[in-house]
Amino acid sequence: MELGSLARARGVRLLALESVDSTNDEARRLIETGERGPLWVVAARQTGGHGRLGRQWISPPGNLHASFILRDFGEAAVAPQLGFVAGVAALRALRAAAGDAGRFALKWPNDLLLDGAKLGGILLENVSVATGDARLPRASIAIIGIGVNCVEAPRGLPFEARALTSIGRNAPDAARLFAHLSDALVEALDLWRGGEGFVDIRRAWLDDVAYLGADIRVELPRETVEGRFETIDATGRLILATREGERVVAAGDVSLGPRRIAAGGAA
Ligand code: BTN
Repeated sequence: MELGSLARARGVRLLALESVDSTNDEARRLIETGERGPLWVVAARQTGGHGRLGRQWISPPGNLHASFILRDFGEAAVAPQLGFVAGVAALRALRAAAGDAGRFALKWPNDLLLDGAKLGGILLENVSVATGDARLPRASIAIIGIGVNCVEAPRGLPFEARALTSIGRNAPDAARLFAHLSDALVEALDLWRGGEGFVDIRRAWLDDVAYLGADIRVELPRETVEGRFETIDATGRLILATREGERVVAAGDVSLGPRRIAAGGAA
């Protein structure tokens, strides 16, 4: 595993491990012992990889498991935007490494798709650390975790998942994809500029997001919301046009189309 040339030139470092419970958890432990980044933690395999909403993330050798530690990114309030910065970077890296532009897409909030099936995901976490400065006693350090099913996609999930190898002989391996990703993230962070450039990131993200303008349903813990996917707002929340008016959603699982009503009326 090696960093891209731009990342290296910008002083980004790399810690490459054979096996770890989770690169995000390792990044957190490093932060707790003083690491401040910019540092990528990558592992050939994870024994306790996790995804959004505490879900397990199957992490066999050959897939990409990488977490980036970032400090001084701006106000803590803009931290959620980093998921979109990472999404834009991951999509650009996939296209640069694999070529097949039209087959890759983003899915709100933090998924990577290949031919409409889940190819990867982004898990954003924050660690609050003491600064030792009485005027600003705490600072936020971001962990941007990215997983891509390069060689193997999990089976038996409630949604379809796919591996990068399904695109054929142009499929990059995890090392090649990572070199592109490390450079693409530097470029996307430059574009974002600690939140000042979110308008550009948002535009790039919306250009490549699946289901924009389509009827979707969003599974929330206690309800399912259906409506047309209009846009995302300045903090990255999903804006839906529903029969009852506009609905703003901060987190949930998106799928295409309204719930199907069977002949007997059952969903
Ligand atoms: C999701 O789609 O739910 C997000 C998945 C994020 C997985 C990556 S793999 C590298 C990093 N380490 C983890 O334990 N999770 C993230």
